[in-house]
Amino acid sequence: MTLPPPIRVGDVVIDPPLVLAPMSGISDLAMRRLCREGGAGLVCNEFVSGVALFYGNERTQEYLRFDEIERPVSCQIFGADPDKLAIAARLVEEAGADILDLNLGCAVPKVTKTGAGACLLRTPAAVGRLVRAMVAAVSLPVTVKVRLGWDNGCRNAAAIARIAVAEGAQLVAVHGRTATQGYRGEADWAAIGEIVAAVPEVPVVGNGDVRSGPDAAALLAASGAAGVMIGRGAEGDPGIFGRVAEYLRTGHEPPPPSAAERLALARRHGDLVVEYRGDERAGREMRKHLAWYSHGLYDATTFRTDINKAPDWSTMKQLLDAYGARLAEHGAQLTAQAAAVADGAPPVLVEGYTG
Ligand SMILES: Cc1cc2nc3c(=O)[nH]c(=O)nc-3n(C[C@H](O)[C@H](O)[C@H](O)COP(=O)(O)O)c2cc1C
Repeated sequence: MTLPPPIRVGDVVIDPPLVLAPMSGISDLAMRRLCREGGAGLVCNEFVSGVALFYGNERTQEYLRFDEIERPVSCQIFGADPDKLAIAARLVEEAGADILDLNLGCAVPKVTKTGAGACLLRTPAAVGRLVRAMVAAVSLPVTVKVRLGWDNGCRNAAAIARIAVAEGAQLVAVHGRTATQGYRGEADWAAIGEIVAAVPEVPVVGNGDVRSGPDAAALLAASGAAGVMIGRGAEGDPGIFGRVAEYLRTGHEPPPPSAAERLALARRHGDLVVEYRGDERAGREMRKHLAWYSHGLYDATTFRTDINKAPDWSTMKQLLDAYGARLAEHGAQLTAQAAAVADGAPPVLVEGYTG
């Protein structure tokens, strides 16, 4: 077991080489900050439309807010027009991102119908033009994130990576599925190795289905990648990066956070969203996060039902406190039962408690 060395991309050092994946609607400032604190060596923002940036869309500017505390941070943009992406790239640089990434993996129709995202995998020459325009526009390192190809008949990520690198891309992240596969099946970690072999001059970061230290070790072993990118595994668990790093260093994965620690993290997460985006926004944003933080805990369904009715973050915090008290009481009951069992009383089985 070895933790790979830090990745260097231009002046940026990714240490440890564990990356929070760009996730639309999820990897906002608060999430990125928590994941940096949780041990990620690089965090990526939610993708930003190059066209919206080009036209000066005000709401889109919000996606270009970065905080010193989260550095290094990568900003991903999507688009299909080299001139517009060049302007967007400059705006990203002015906003203070450390790395500029091009999305070549998003398969949602809203994006692909504009010719952007994963459908660019079917037009390799266009990828070359886009990367060239971005590299010429900024002094930031430019990177790309791809899937294995558009579909099984077109698994051409290695060729795409070669083109992107020839035009100046300095890192390639690969989600080990094709675009038409969506999230079905399993990520093909060995196939990521074909891209590693195709562009030996730049680091390749492997991505897909990593939820633990052993997963990360298996991805690295199967692919030879220089680092690991984690997306869904960080939902409700921003500390996963530190645990994965520890596993890769020592072969031992620290235990996941306890129920009380998870609720404390959830509280801090919501407070950070308030700090960055206000109370009303936090109310909307935190529903999904609270569902993830409480996943698998005792009586989480009741908690989530209550949360879904809460109008704002202040109310959610009260519900969090009440839920925390309920969990503590339940934990005390379990301890009492365990003591009684040790004393010879018949065991009482309580299902659904994993805290
Ligand atoms: C809700 C959600 C939003 C995503 N948004 C983006 C995005 O904006 N840009 C991108 O390149 N990938 C995006 N992805 C894909 C992830 O970056 C990642 O490649 C994928 O989830 C596989 O990694 P995982 O198994 O660790 O989650 C998104 C994934 C999810 C689940």
